[in-house]
Amino acid sequence: MKPPPLFLLLLLFLFSTTTTSAAASTTNVTKPATPTLSPTPPTTKGPSSSSSTLDPKQIRALQSLNIATARDPCVQPSPNNATVCDTSKPFRHLVSLHLSNCSSNVSLSSAALKSLSSLHSLSFTNCHASPIRLPSDLSFSLTSFSCIHSLRHLTAVWLSRFVNLTDLTVSYTPINTRGLYVILGNMHKLKTLTISHANLSGSLPRHLHLNLTHVDLSNNKLKGKIPTSLTLLEDLEFLNLSSNGLNGVIPTEFGDLISLKNISLATNSFSGTIPDSMSAIPGLIHVDLSNNQLKGTVPSFFSELKKLKVLNLENNELHGVIPFNASFIKRLDVLKLGGNGNLCYNQSSLSLKMKIGIAPCDKHGLPISPLPSKESSRDSGSESSDYGDDDNDGGGGGGGSADNTSEKKEHHHGPNKVVLGVAIGVSSIVFLIVFLLLLSKWCG
Ligand SMILES: *[C@@H]1O[C@H](CO)[C@@H](O)[C@H](O)[C@H]1NC(C)=O
Ligand SMILES: *[C@@H]1O[C@H](CO)[C@@H](O)[C@H](O)[C@H]1NC(C)=O
Ligand SMILES: *[C@@H]1O[C@H](CO)[C@@H](O)[C@H](O)[C@H]1NC(C)=O
Ligand SMILES: *[C@@H]1O[C@H](CO)[C@@H](O)[C@H](O)[C@H]1NC(C)=O
Ligand SMILES: *[C@@H]1O[C@H](CO)[C@@H](O)[C@H](O)[C@H]1NC(C)=O
Ligand SMILES: *[C@@H]1O[C@H](CO)[C@@H](O)[C@H](O)[C@H]1NC(C)=O
Ligand SMILES: *[C@@H]1O[C@H](CO)[C@@H](O)[C@H](O)[C@H]1NC(C)=O
Ligand SMILES: *[C@@H]1O[C@H](CO)[C@@H](O)[C@H](O)[C@H]1NC(C)=O
Ligand SMILES: *[C@@H]1O[C@H](CO)[C@@H](O)[C@H](O)[C@H]1NC(C)=O
Ligand SMILES: *[C@@H]1O[C@H](CO)[C@@H](O)[C@H](O)[C@H]1NC(C)=O
Ligand SMILES: *[C@@H]1O[C@H](CO)[C@@H](O)[C@H](O)[C@H]1NC(C)=O
Ligand SMILES: *[C@@H]1O[C@H](CO)[C@@H](O)[C@H](O)[C@H]1NC(C)=O
Repeated sequence: MKPPPLFLLLLLFLFSTTTTSAAASTTNVTKPATPTLSPTPPTTKGPSSSSSTLDPKQIRALQSLNIATARDPCVQPSPNNATVCDTSKPFRHLVSLHLSNCSSNVSLSSAALKSLSSLHSLSFTNCHASPIRLPSDLSFSLTSFSCIHSLRHLTAVWLSRFVNLTDLTVSYTPINTRGLYVILGNMHKLKTLTISHANLSGSLPRHLHLNLTHVDLSNNKLKGKIPTSLTLLEDLEFLNLSSNGLNGVIPTEFGDLISLKNISLATNSFSGTIPDSMSAIPGLIHVDLSNNQLKGTVPSFFSELKKLKVLNLENNELHGVIPFNASFIKRLDVLKLGGNGNLCYNQSSLSLKMKIGIAPCDKHGLPISPLPSKESSRDSGSESSDYGDDDNDGGGGGGGSADNTSEKKEHHHGPNKVVLGVAIGVSSIVFLIVFLLLLSKWCG
């Protein structure tokens, strides 16, 4: 009797494929679900202090802003961290208020806001109330203001009244302004500034406050050059000017930004060369100059920056042999050089198992054309994922030919595996049923 062993073998094979694919798909499905929302512990000491310690005027103000006050708003942590109080007596006062996911009919009333001038921090997230003129006591008391996807639209003059701010954040909210200087002119204490996705127009101010440590003006409509005076910000650690309409050269004094760690000038129209003075910035971690028109060769100083983790120079007009050795390239988390037509690497001094988006050089230091075909990017195999799994920061532009195909492959890897697993499972079950039917007919 030959059929049974064959049948059993087939059955075994089918079962093994279905079970392994099912296992793979379940692990991949359960993974995203695991981050358990840490349930806000409902008041360890709540019941004991049932009567609120908050100033009754401020309780009424919170109620008018649709913030629940059934539980004492001063007990920490408050739901969604909406409220934080000071310790004054007999009544405590609010120092921080965070309005988020407001119902569409919430309105900021001046009566409510008048009683809130004890606030140091005011923030809005997904709260589409209309902005109203804040009482001056409140605008003077704030040291931190944040508006993310809220308040419909703002004006520079409205923001400029927060003269004591150290932290200003506006994102995904359009600001109507003739220039950033209108907003920042009187904020002499500012340390961190984020205005992104805010339709901000005009140019970069000639004078920025020297104590700034964090400047993010990404995704706006800023135009013009980087003023040399920007390089005076010697406390600046973070600078993101990506996705604007900035142009001109990167100032030669750029290396004066001695505290800089993360910088992105990506997706603008910067030209000229990468300034050598950057080699003097010892703490650089993340450098993104992609999607500009930078020329010249890739400077060798990058490999001497001990902390560098991310280097993205793709989609520029750089040329020549890259001055990097394999141990430097391995040390990085992300290296992107694609989309620079005349950039190449020295095959005899650098054997690259990983894909960095450029071709090897011929003996004249020019890339061996055509660019690495699909074959070479495929045999880079698993290691290429080390260089493909970063953010989509530089994504916008016309990618570096062979580069984008393989990157897309990487990004779709997860879902494809699940689909494949399910498909194999289902088809093998169908096949099994058909096979059994045939078998039963055949035997019977
Ligand atoms: C606001 O709503 C979003 C989406 O509905 C939710 O993910 C988020 O946790 C909410 N935030 C707060 C503070 O309630
Ligand atoms: C509340 O704030 C604390 C400290 O800032 C933070 O650790 C916590 O994650 C926040 N909780 C929520 C629900 O946002
Ligand atoms: C606001 O809208 C909510 C439902 O979205 C409703 O329950 C509440 O009564 C409204 N409040 C006012 C003052 O209209
Ligand atoms: C904020 O600035 C105003 C006006 O410049 C000043 O009078 C006030 O004392 C400052 N307030 C705080 C809390 O620093
Ligand atoms: C963005 O700014 C332009 C002018 O620079 C204006 O025409 C446009 O309406 C603004 N868009 C939004 C959403 O405010
Ligand atoms: C900048 O910060 C330093 C210390 O962090 C402080 O001494 C100095 O007064 C600040 N400068 C200005 C103009 O606020
Ligand atoms: C700059 O901002 C963009 C978007 O606003 C973001 O995608 C990118 O990661 C930021 N770059 C750095 C170096 O932080
Ligand atoms: C700076 O860049 C590093 C490396 O990409 C990243 O881990 C870190 O979060 C960034 N810091 C800030 C403030 O964005
Ligand atoms: C690679 O380059 C770095 C910096 O230029 C240098 O310190 C290191 O010795 C080089 N490694 C090898 C194996 O050549
Ligand atoms: C590549 O490296 C080898 C050995 O280090 C050297 O002899 C050769 O000149 C280099 N080729 C180019 C084009 O730089
Ligand atoms: C790479 O991406 C660009 C723009 O997204 C597209 O036009 C081009 O066809 C892509 N290249 C390949 C080889 O798919
Ligand atoms: C899917 O599961 C496999 C095997 O457990 C794992 O290697 C892979 O990283 C997972 N993919 C995703 C997107 O979670």
